[in-house]
Amino acid sequence: MYSEKVMDHFNHPRNVGEIENASGVGTVGNAKCGDIMRMYLDIDDNQIIRECKFKTFGCGAAVATSSMATELVTGKSVQEAMQVTNKAVMEALDGLPPVKVHCSLLAEEAIHAALWDYAKKNDIIIDGLKEPKADISEEEVEV
Ligand code: FES
Repeated sequence: MYSEKVMDHFNHPRNVGEIENASGVGTVGNAKCGDIMRMYLDIDDNQIIRECKFKTFGCGAAVATSSMATELVTGKSVQEAMQVTNKAVMEALDGLPPVKVHCSLLAEEAIHAALWDYAKKNDIIIDGLKEPKADISEEEVEV
């Protein structure tokens, strides 16, 4: 039911953890399944993502999509990172079963929430980026 790539990223997730003094942090959750994902971005002065780490309290597909998303955004500019949609993450993982598509959406939303945090702190505008709906503040949730 899962592709080899999904299993690989689930069993050996890349970039797990936190970034201290991150340039941007985003936390999102899915009310239905209760899964929570937090993304940390380290962004340099040229708006290039140097590092991306995640913590996910959720299902295997959420872990695999977070892991793949961190790999896809690393080295990209903040604008290019907008192209890392849930579709792009799913494609990179050779697909997900339909009931797990929302897990990849969580990865996209977590990246957007972290980019939003960065943009807000630095007073910049990232084209196409909207304020995250599902952002959960640090006080509300311990991942
Ligand atoms: Fe909800 Fe995977 S089941 S994120």
